Amino acid sequence: MKKSVLDYALRVRLPITIFVVLTSFAVTFYASKPEREGKGYSPEQPIKYSHKVHAGDMAIDCRYCHLTVEKGRHAGVPPTSTCMNCHTVARADKEEILKLTQFYKENTPIPWKRMHKVPEYAYFNHAAHVNKGMDCAHCHGDIREMEKVSQVQSFTMAACLDCHRNPEKKMPELKGKVQKGPTHCSACHR
Ligand code: HEC
Ligand code: HEC
Ligand code: HEC
Ligand code: HEC
Ligand code: HEC
Repeated sequence: MKKSVLDYALRVRLPITIFVVLTSFAVTFYASKPEREGKGYSPEQPIKYSHKVHAGDMAIDCRYCHLTVEKGRHAGVPPTSTCMNCHTVARADKEEILKLTQFYKENTPIPWKRMHKVPEYAYFNHAAHVNKGMDCAHCHGDIREMEKVSQVQSFTMAACLDCHRNPEKKMPELKGKVQKGPTHCSACHR
């Protein structure tokens, strides 16, 4: 009896333990490589658009421009026509607005550089989060203070799970109003 337990421990348990330790070590190492995290990424944009001026000082609602943030996966970036609601008149003679007007007249989309991105094999959905009352700032920082958007937080699997396991710790204002997020693989890898 004793021998077979020991046998079991050595033949089965030990290799499993070693496997688990090694894989979690490898995953931790891989997931924490800074170039995968995107934190601090803030590319030059084709037009010097400022969130601080528009969403901060002028207090334009995020949803006025990020139209689909409550409807589906992607928040979306506004078409130039949204900007032209104001800029056919506002500051129309300024250099950056002349550039904006040029894009509009030529009917070419502004080539904004994308920052926040999860890989194709992972599933994220804005509506599922925002419609539960979660503030954009929990994941994007205070964009209203940013002259130029910068990614303030990484979207590694570990970061998603960290909030999913204990959302009320991250978002105390939603205590009792949100469920825990899913942690089973197929929720995010479909
Ligand atoms: C609700 C009206 C409104 C909308 C919509 C709007 N803007 Fe503006 N924008 C303004 C006003 C007003 C100013 C001047 C603010 C100030 O300087 O205090 C401004 C300033 C700017 C400036 C700085 C101009 C300068 O003085 O050099 C840029 C660039 C700009 N906006 C780009 C955009 C872009 C790009 C969009 C669309 C994504 C956009 N704006 C949408 C009203 C708007
Ligand atoms: C007047 C239109 C406008 C408003 C209002 C606005 N945004 Fe934006 N947003 C843009 C444009 C244009 C871009 C792309 C250029 C840039 O990154 O500055 C953008 C980019 C972003 C990005 C980065 C997207 C990426 O590529 O990863 C985030 C995050 C974001 N906005 C969040 C917000 C939040 C949160 C609010 C409200 C507090 C807000 N925005 C209000 C127009 C707007
Ligand atoms: C729970 C975290 C979370 C919240 C809350 C959140 N975002 Fe995001 N956001 C992300 C992630 C993750 C990405 C990258 C998504 C992808 O690659 O599909 C992203 C990408 C974006 C982008 C660029 C790509 C796209 O989806 O169009 C914009 C713009 C944006 N968010 C705006 C907002 C705004 C505005 C709000 C609030 C109304 C908001 N986000 C709330 C996590 C969040
Ligand atoms: C809450 C969402 C979420 C859940 C649940 C989740 N993942 Fe992920 N996973 C992600 C995201 C986002 C990424 C991409 C970012 C990164 O590489 O960390 C990722 C990346 C991965 C990668 C890395 C792939 C690579 O190229 O490095 C593997 C492997 C993985 N997940 C396996 C799993 C397994 C197995 C489970 C279940 C035990 C699981 N995931 C559960 C969101 C999730
Ligand atoms: C700040 C907290 C927070 C972060 C960060 C976060 N989530 Fe969530 N997520 C939640 C909560 C809370 C729920 C459950 C909401 C409810 O049902 O009440 C949820 C639900 C989900 C769901 C289930 C809803 C659906 O669309 O099927 C998925 C999938 C998901 N999150 C993916 C992700 C991925 C991928 C990331 C990282 C890129 C992420 N989340 C980051 C808090 C977060």
